[in-house]
Amino acid sequence: MAPFFFLLLLSQILLCAAIDTINSSTPLSGVQQIVSKGNKFTLGFYTPLQGKTTSSPSNYYIAIWYSNIQQTTVWTANSDAPVTDPTTTALTIGSDGNLVLLDQSKNRQLWSTNMSIGSNSTIAVLRDDGSLDLTDATNPSIVYWRSIDHPTNTWLPGGKLGLNKTTGVSQRLVPWRNTANPSPGLFSLELDPNGSTQYFIQWKDSITYWTSGPWNGNIFSLVPEMTAGYNYNFQFIDNGTESYFIYSMKDNNIISRFIIDVNGQIKQETWVSFTQSWTMFWAQPRSQCEVYALCGAYGSCKVDALPFCTCIKGFTQKIQSDWDLQDYSGGCKRRVPLQCQTNSSSSQSQSDKFYSMESVRLPDNAQTAVAASSQDCRVACLNSCSCNAYTYNSSGCFVWHGDLINLQDQYSGNGGGTLFLRLAASELPDSKKSKTVIIGAVVGGVAAVLIVIAIVSYFIFQKYRRERTLRISKTAGGTLIAFRYSDLQHVTNNFSERLGGGAFGSVFKGKLPDSTAIAVKRLDGVHQGEKQFRAEVSTIGTIQHVNLVRLLGFCSEGSRRLLVYEFMPEGSLDLQLFPGEKTALSWATRYQIALGTARGLNYLHEKCRDCIIHCDVKPENILLDESFVPKVADFGLAKLLGRDFSRVLTTMRGTRGYLAPEWISGVAITAKADVFSYGMMLFELISGRRNSDHGEERGSTFFPTFAASKLHEGDVRILMDPRLNGDGNVDELTKACKVACWCIQDDESARPTTGQIVQILEGFLDVNMPPVPRSLRVLGESPDVINFFSDISSSQTSQTQNSTTTSQTHSATSGSSHFQSS
Ligand SMILES: *[C@@H]1O[C@H](CO)[C@@H](O)[C@H](O)[C@H]1NC(C)=O
Ligand SMILES: *[C@@H]1O[C@H](CO)[C@@H](O)[C@H](O)[C@H]1NC(C)=O
Ligand SMILES: *[C@@H]1O[C@H](CO)[C@@H](O)[C@H](O)[C@H]1NC(C)=O
Ligand SMILES: *[C@@H]1O[C@H](CO)[C@@H](O)[C@H](O)[C@H]1NC(C)=O
Ligand SMILES: *[C@@H]1O[C@H](CO)[C@@H](O)[C@H](O)[C@H]1NC(C)=O
Ligand SMILES: *[C@@H]1O[C@H](CO)[C@@H](O)[C@H](O)[C@H]1NC(C)=O
Ligand SMILES: *[C@@H]1O[C@H](CO)[C@@H](O)[C@H](O)[C@H]1NC(C)=O
Ligand SMILES: *[C@@H]1O[C@H](CO)[C@@H](O)[C@H](O)[C@H]1NC(C)=O
Repeated sequence: MAPFFFLLLLSQILLCAAIDTINSSTPLSGVQQIVSKGNKFTLGFYTPLQGKTTSSPSNYYIAIWYSNIQQTTVWTANSDAPVTDPTTTALTIGSDGNLVLLDQSKNRQLWSTNMSIGSNSTIAVLRDDGSLDLTDATNPSIVYWRSIDHPTNTWLPGGKLGLNKTTGVSQRLVPWRNTANPSPGLFSLELDPNGSTQYFIQWKDSITYWTSGPWNGNIFSLVPEMTAGYNYNFQFIDNGTESYFIYSMKDNNIISRFIIDVNGQIKQETWVSFTQSWTMFWAQPRSQCEVYALCGAYGSCKVDALPFCTCIKGFTQKIQSDWDLQDYSGGCKRRVPLQCQTNSSSSQSQSDKFYSMESVRLPDNAQTAVAASSQDCRVACLNSCSCNAYTYNSSGCFVWHGDLINLQDQYSGNGGGTLFLRLAASELPDSKKSKTVIIGAVVGGVAAVLIVIAIVSYFIFQKYRRERTLRISKTAGGTLIAFRYSDLQHVTNNFSERLGGGAFGSVFKGKLPDSTAIAVKRLDGVHQGEKQFRAEVSTIGTIQHVNLVRLLGFCSEGSRRLLVYEFMPEGSLDLQLFPGEKTALSWATRYQIALGTARGLNYLHEKCRDCIIHCDVKPENILLDESFVPKVADFGLAKLLGRDFSRVLTTMRGTRGYLAPEWISGVAITAKADVFSYGMMLFELISGRRNSDHGEERGSTFFPTFAASKLHEGDVRILMDPRLNGDGNVDELTKACKVACWCIQDDESARPTTGQIVQILEGFLDVNMPPVPRSLRVLGESPDVINFFSDISSSQTSQTQNSTTTSQTHSATSGSSHFQSS
């Protein structure tokens, strides 16, 4: 009996879940939802996670989202007509057969599919590809309208983005206004409405800041990385009635989406379920700052900074709340009005001054002015109250009336120069003589008070320090020390000696009371809860190996998260390997570093209880002790930082070219991803330079491509760092080159395990001649594609593996016969 009841119950549940249709007698309102047959997508009323504003009533939008991914919508209906009360609003089939959203309290139509349909038996069905299809109940082969072909900010596999040549209507991808508001933002991606076969990204439908280049039959000409399109099928259709681009996944288990984000970049992302985050592997324009006018009027963009936008000197955010939601388009406003704007011609008010901004991308809409010198140019600007800035360069004098837009900091490209920004005199104080006396008196007084305070606090501090020293040594009994923030402040001399830093925060040197040197890593932007943080940290704390940096302790107070590591006197590998004319690293040392690093990684991959994929193997994360013994740093951070890790890496663009191609595909990441990065790093150990940073003499800009071909020609000596003057063991060099080349194979099952690498480098395994990896051949043809890989790496997220993926790794390599016992 019991199984029967169970089945009955199950069928009830399945029946409930199977509602994927809206018809004229089943409108959708309130908390009702429909779910696609395979439970991939859900449609209902959606409200974005608002920042902190709980006071204002929530806005609701009809949206489709991934059933199993929180807060990721793929389509919204009433983007610019939000609903405040979903219970009085219904998504239903209208009398004309269209799907409509009706505000029943006001009897108003908020949205409609707006097709001409000669039938009253239409129904809307949510499909597993994420599309809401308007079809006919009597004849399902008729499809009047598909949401997937009318995208909002997300272009899903199977959707068309193009132009209907009959109506001249082109489908556009438009970002949300800000992260909490789906109404249309200022940017758009669309096929050239004039009929050419290229896509444009535009600002306010007027300025084009990126183009795909025309379709050449295989790819869009300015998107060469499409040739390495691994897991995608794509097609461009251009005929008399329509032209559009369409893509699909070769493997339907991969969840991929194409979005235009609030900051005007287009991105292809895949969902990585281990980290529960989206991994971006392709973005255009490549740099955030190439997005036109991203930072609004008087805002300035800075590459590799978070946030990218800041207000220029003398200006402040116009609408702070928008900036907080990543909408910078409102720009900035003047803090102090110009003298000419205030009407005061009295003698005390000083005339406006100019602040010089060097190496900036000059704003748009410059006007020429007649001036023979920089001084004349300044006067020309001062003479007009609407003039906000000027520049004087070899083409003459240029002035700006009105808003300054599209500025960028630290810019050295075309259209750069020194901008003289007009500001009120009070924004640029200088030492006027009459004021010096007063200022001197004030400064003197303040200084006297400060000295007294300093003396008093010194004594208090000394007493405090004695107490504190006691406390630290007391807690040092266990394995991991839970530090207080104030203690860490103290031992690092208030974070004064910065050792380095990356996307997740800075590292500072410190000294414990027993004079043990430590490195304190201050993590930025960790939003993980206290409990989870402690759990992760204690896992990392138990991992000890001679080639792994040891975690000594941590601090978790309020929102502060710090990690305390043993201090490595010789710093990170990149500092020893890459700079300048001379190098401290002999061939023998390099070989030991390669071997030690492999051992450290091998321990993480195979030897410790919960195995760990590092995810961020690069020279910056290999530290060296006083005898140049390598120690892998930052392992476990991937999991610790989770989403934050990937978010920061998505935005920052530091790391180049260490990322395995499977990050693109969205398939499960295994330890072989670390092997790939290790291989890339091994090439750098051999050559002494960044792989992407080789001059003409190496025949190619991308070293692994060059190395792979030289290896086949039997000419390995040429690959060795010229600074070593050929002083190195050729057998070891050959072995290292072969290993490196095997490590970067596209097919992860062809790459050796870290265990095999150790054995090969130790001389216990022989290694065959590796083939040239397919993606390298692509790289060799088009230097542009190298940038593609740097973009991939900029999106590098993290991944921590569990035992299931380890076993995958083992089974994948067991068949590999390129490495044989000798
Ligand atoms: C609408 O759907 C419901 C349940 O799916 C069904 O019972 C009803 O007959 C349908 N109505 C029409 C007009 O098709
Ligand atoms: C519906 O279509 C008509 C013409 O077909 C157009 O004029 C109207 O603006 C459209 N309405 C909406 C809401 O798109
Ligand atoms: C809708 O279809 C029914 C038959 O199913 C028909 O009787 C009715 O007249 C139709 N109504 C309209 C407005 O076309
Ligand atoms: C173009 O739009 C018209 C009117 O909406 C529609 O009838 C036609 O099927 C569309 N053509 C294509 C190729 O989608
Ligand atoms: C389309 O053509 C018109 C007229 O020829 C031109 O003014 C416009 O700039 C073109 N638009 C684009 C995006 O090329
Ligand atoms: C254009 O291509 C679409 C899709 O392949 C096809 O359905 C349509 O019939 C074609 N139209 C013409 C005029 O060839
Ligand atoms: C400046 O003077 C004009 C007319 O003389 C007046 O309309 C304007 O409000 C004044 N502006 C300020 C900021 O006082
Ligand atoms: C001088 O500045 C103007 C204004 O931005 C710019 O258009 C021009 O290219 C610059 N000329 C040189 C030689 O840099």
